[in-house]
Amino acid sequence: MGRIIAVANQKGGVGKTTTSINLAACLAEKGKKVLAVDMDPQGNLTSGLGIDKNRLDKTIYQAMCDEINLGECIITNPFERKMDLSIAPANRELAGAEVELMIDAEDPQHILKKLLKGVKKQYDFIIIDCPPALGLLTVNSMTAADTVLVPIQCEFFALDGLSQLIHTINLIRKKLNRALEIEGVVFTMYDARTNLSQDVVNNVKNNLDQFIYKTVIPRNVRLAEAPSFGLPINLYDSRSAGAEGYRKLADEVISNKLYAGL
Ligand SMILES: Nc1ncnc2c1ncn2[C@@H]1O[C@H](COP(=O)(O)OP(=O)(O)O)[C@@H](O)[C@H]1O
Ligand SMILES: [Mg+2]
Repeated sequence: MGRIIAVANQKGGVGKTTTSINLAACLAEKGKKVLAVDMDPQGNLTSGLGIDKNRLDKTIYQAMCDEINLGECIITNPFERKMDLSIAPANRELAGAEVELMIDAEDPQHILKKLLKGVKKQYDFIIIDCPPALGLLTVNSMTAADTVLVPIQCEFFALDGLSQLIHTINLIRKKLNRALEIEGVVFTMYDARTNLSQDVVNNVKNNLDQFIYKTVIPRNVRLAEAPSFGLPINLYDSRSAGAEGYRKLADEVISNKLYAGL
C-alpha cells in the first residue's frame, strides 16, 4: 500500500520542490513505484521533471474539479531508464481551484484524499509537493497524506514560521486526518563552509521536538541546474553531492520507523 508524504513548509524557497522531485526520483531509482503530485500552481515540480506545463490540458486541477479522473492527467513514467516515476502535473490553473473549490465543492478539504484513494494501491510512495502557503491546497495535501516531511533551509530565520506549521498540522490531525504524522525534518542547502549552517542545525535540534533526518542536503549547484534540463538529480548528475544526499534521504525515508509493521 502506498505511503503518502506531503512535503510542506509555508515558506517559499526552502527546498520543497527540489526535495519532492529528487526524493521521488531516488525512491524510484531504488525500485519503488512512485507518483509525484504537483499541488503548487507554480508548477515547478512539473516543469522540473521535463513536462511543458503550459501545454497541458489535463492536470490535477481538472481532476480536483471532477472534470476528469486522476488517472487521465497522470504522466506515466517519462524516464524509462528503469525508474518507475509518474507525475500528476499542475500549472497556474490550479491557483483558481483554491477559491472555486471553497465555494463550490461539497467537502473541499478531502478532494485530493478521495482522488488518491483510487490510485494509492498502485504505488509504494506518493510524494506531494505543497505550495508555499497554508491554504486549501496544503490542507488538501495534508488531509490526503500519511505523513508530512518538512524541509528547513539552513538560514538564519529557519525556525520562523515552524510553530505555525506545526500548529496547522495539529489542527488537521484533530479535525481532518487523525492518522497524520510528522515524517520528519530535513535540512536543505547546507553549506559546510559556513558556521551559519551548523549553527542553524544546532539551533533547530535544540528547539524542535521532532524527528530530524540524519541526512543533510548540501548546497549543490547541480541541484539548482537540474530542473532547467527537466531532469531529477540522479539522471542529471548521478555522482553529484546532491544526488548522494537525496539517495541517503530516500534510504532513511524507506526505513523510517513510522512505517514499521506496515
Ligand atoms: N540543496 C540545494 N542546493 C542548491 N540550490 C538549491 C538546493 N535546494 C534548492 N535549491 C534552489 O533553491 C531555490 C528554491 O528551491 P525550491 O525547491 O524551489 O524551494 P520551494 O519549493 O520550497 O519554494 C531553487 O532555485 C532551487 O533550485
Ligand atoms: Mg516549490
